[in-house]
Amino acid sequence: MLRTNTCGELRIEDVNKNVTLCGWVQKTRKLGGATFIDLRDRYGITQLIFSDDDQAGAKFGEEGFSREMVLKVTGTVIERLSKNKNLPTGDIEIKLQHVEILNRSLTPPFTIEDETDGGDELRMKYRYLDLRRTVVRKNLELRHRMAIETRNYLDKLDFLEVETPVLIKSTPEGARDFVVPSRMNQNQFYALPQSPQTFKQLLMVSGFDRYYQIVKCFRDEDLRADRQPEFTQIDCEMSFVEQEDILQTFEGLTRHLFKKVKGIDIPTIPRLSYADAMKYYGNDKPDTRFDMKLVDFKALVSGKSFKVFEDAETVLAISASGASEYTRKQLDELTEWVKRPQLAATGLVYARYTADGTLKSSVDKFYNQEELKKWAQACDAKPGDLILILAGGENKTRKAMSELRLEMGNRLGLRDKNKFSCLWVVDFPLLEWNEGDPNLLASLAGRWHAKHHPFTSPKPEDINLLNTDPGGVRANAYDIVINGVEVGGGSIRIHNRDLQAKLFEVLGFSKEEAQKQFGFLMNAFEYGAPPHGGIAFGFDRLCSLFGGAESIRDFIAFPKNNSGRDVMIDAPSEISEEQLKELGIHLSTEKS
Ligand code: AMO
Repeated sequence: MLRTNTCGELRIEDVNKNVTLCGWVQKTRKLGGATFIDLRDRYGITQLIFSDDDQAGAKFGEEGFSREMVLKVTGTVIERLSKNKNLPTGDIEIKLQHVEILNRSLTPPFTIEDETDGGDELRMKYRYLDLRRTVVRKNLELRHRMAIETRNYLDKLDFLEVETPVLIKSTPEGARDFVVPSRMNQNQFYALPQSPQTFKQLLMVSGFDRYYQIVKCFRDEDLRADRQPEFTQIDCEMSFVEQEDILQTFEGLTRHLFKKVKGIDIPTIPRLSYADAMKYYGNDKPDTRFDMKLVDFKALVSGKSFKVFEDAETVLAISASGASEYTRKQLDELTEWVKRPQLAATGLVYARYTADGTLKSSVDKFYNQEELKKWAQACDAKPGDLILILAGGENKTRKAMSELRLEMGNRLGLRDKNKFSCLWVVDFPLLEWNEGDPNLLASLAGRWHAKHHPFTSPKPEDINLLNTDPGGVRANAYDIVINGVEVGGGSIRIHNRDLQAKLFEVLGFSKEEAQKQFGFLMNAFEYGAPPHGGIAFGFDRLCSLFGGAESIRDFIAFPKNNSGRDVMIDAPSEISEEQLKELGIHLSTEKS
């Protein structure tokens, strides 16, 4: 080793020891004839000192120490005159005897401090410097701990970690695939896996019984703060289980992670049906850190000749606790907020439940005090609360109200990132009608689409609806939601060839197409496939939640930007004519 100690470990007990440290110059300053250097490594910061008039000091001074220079220093641990209580090493400093410059550094393009002056793009371009910042490194340390604890938990339960291939077959279902051309099989392409779904099911057919993998997945979809084109799953599958077994096992994993990584005991995770999640929160991944449920007001407000409510398919209300004092300006601003194109509400009706017990609404012309009191009762509003109402088409209004609820949660400080509320959402519909989802191939529009994936088992009691009312079939599928983030999802699978073939038929695949795309799986089902099911957690999302952040980017060492680019290595990029030729790819030179 080039060093005797790290920059994070020396304490007052080490005074008088002769030590050698290595690290990067965080900053230097001169004070009263002495020079101080903060030397940083992964473990912390240690202050170095030399006096300008000591001979050795003069020599170091001549060299000059610039930021991010790499040093190897030798000296004696001494007690500091003025201690720094914010630093674990803050009681001591190293009186320098010898300094070796291991490497020099250009001036970094942004300050390598917790609060940096670097913008997003710049930090991503120089990600290796960004990763020197303690805040970012701590996120990756958390990620490491989460992975270790996941493995510990699953290993104890006899799960085997098995690697599945990364070059697989493209299928039209699900999100769009990233594809890789094959040189040896010209005009043919591999796809990168969107998840190891079919392979983990095949491992169950092989009798592996309990599988897991912390695994990279790839999806060519629109990116957001919680979506990356390549991301990681904790992917799991179990044989001879029912839904309840999976919920118990992975509630256990969630509890284990909270306990081991954050020292938090979480209560039993409540369960909510998809139908109730939509009814009470307008959303299949509700943030249950706060209540503020959606209340159906249609019957309550009808028949009073207020045209907006009369004409509306749906009228929904929420009661925002303690917001009755909202000023006219705040209410106008909230009205503009719901009218933005993203929500496109036509307007916002409100009723203030003032502290003196009277209700004042924006539609006083149509509703008297007695009627307004009924509103308050219906949404459990108390004096001091503000009732907010949206009206319009069912889907749009429910979605807009869900967003307004979250926004009010933010404004009222109800979404504390240090508070955690977990939820199982169960009984998802098996299928949904695809009107033209931009994340799916255009050819899949205008047909039924598997809400989870096409290998999900319908609830046995709903199978007979597959022919008559496909939209009414419920699945043995579940999601785990934490603080309004879909952290994981899974299902009990179909393990019967005929039922699987039936599902492909409902999804609009011809027999030939289904055989061509998924024949390998259906054939496997003919060789003794056990009943099985599983789940996958979005590992990046889980880490960012634990870290109290909304974006998963800072929990991934080398993430992509919102256009799917790695701006550091400049990927994706063009490839040479020679490579293209070898791959048998002819690019059209015409500009579209
Ligand atoms: P699903 O598609 O629900 O299920 O994915 C599981 C979890 O992965 C996370 N996730 C993502 N995280 C970051 N960026 C993305 N682009 C992204 N897409 C998904 C989410 C999600 O809940 N094979 C099934 C699982 C199963 O049935 O066992 C699957 O992949 O947190």
